Amino acid sequence: MSDTPQLVAPGLYAQGTRRFTLGPDGELRPFSPNRSKLAAYLKLGGTAWPFGEGCRVLYLGAASGTTVSHIADCCPRGRVFAVEKALRPLRELVTLCGERDNVVPLQADASMPERYGAIVGLVDVLYQDVAAPNQGAIFAANAARFCRPGALGMLMVKARSIDAAAPPGAIIDEVEVGLPPQAQLLERIGLGPFERDHAALVVRLGTAAASTGTP
Ligand SMILES: C[S@@+](CC[C@H](N)C(=O)[O-])C[C@H]1O[C@@H](n2cnc3c(N)ncnc32)[C@H](O)[C@@H]1O
Repeated sequence: MSDTPQLVAPGLYAQGTRRFTLGPDGELRPFSPNRSKLAAYLKLGGTAWPFGEGCRVLYLGAASGTTVSHIADCCPRGRVFAVEKALRPLRELVTLCGERDNVVPLQADASMPERYGAIVGLVDVLYQDVAAPNQGAIFAANAARFCRPGALGMLMVKARSIDAAAPPGAIIDEVEVGLPPQAQLLERIGLGPFERDHAALVVRLGTAAASTGTP
């Protein structure tokens, strides 16, 4: 096996079971399933990789930008609109992404998409990881407003944020049933053992053809 990580998808490199993205300084950055649910999703067999060159991404629940930074590095001529409600992680996000001019940090509540509607426009990918009780409703509202036909939706569901007492599988079932009518479920992947009681739901929104790399 080669010692050099090989490009396996737009912006994504693999060496054995490890994955990397290419940072702004040309350094390979480990993309760890212990630090990012998107990396965990890939590690656990997820196949969707809608990111690439000019991709426009709306990212809800950016926190301090760990996953945002990897996605941004895979979309060098695109834009990542990174929405985060809490001020503290957002400050770190701004610092971390200071060297990336394709990230637009937005301090907003993702349940009020009208607050950032004028800035975002249509996107190719909606990625959500908000750990909030109304995760399904937030996803539906943002999908309806911002996703172009054929966009890909990646919803990281944290069951315990919706109901800490009910069985996580049943909660994730409910989120799946409540997906917007224009969403076609492509994958449902449990994120354990990296993230307990989480699942990634991947959906195609609207009617355009599915693709990887060129959204
Ligand atoms: C699990 S963390 C996100 C981790 C991040 N996605 C990553 O991979 O690096 C969830 C984040 O969602 C944010 N959040 C929760 N509810 C939100 C809302 N309604 N609007 C925007 N952000 C929200 C929280 O403040 C928190 O930073």
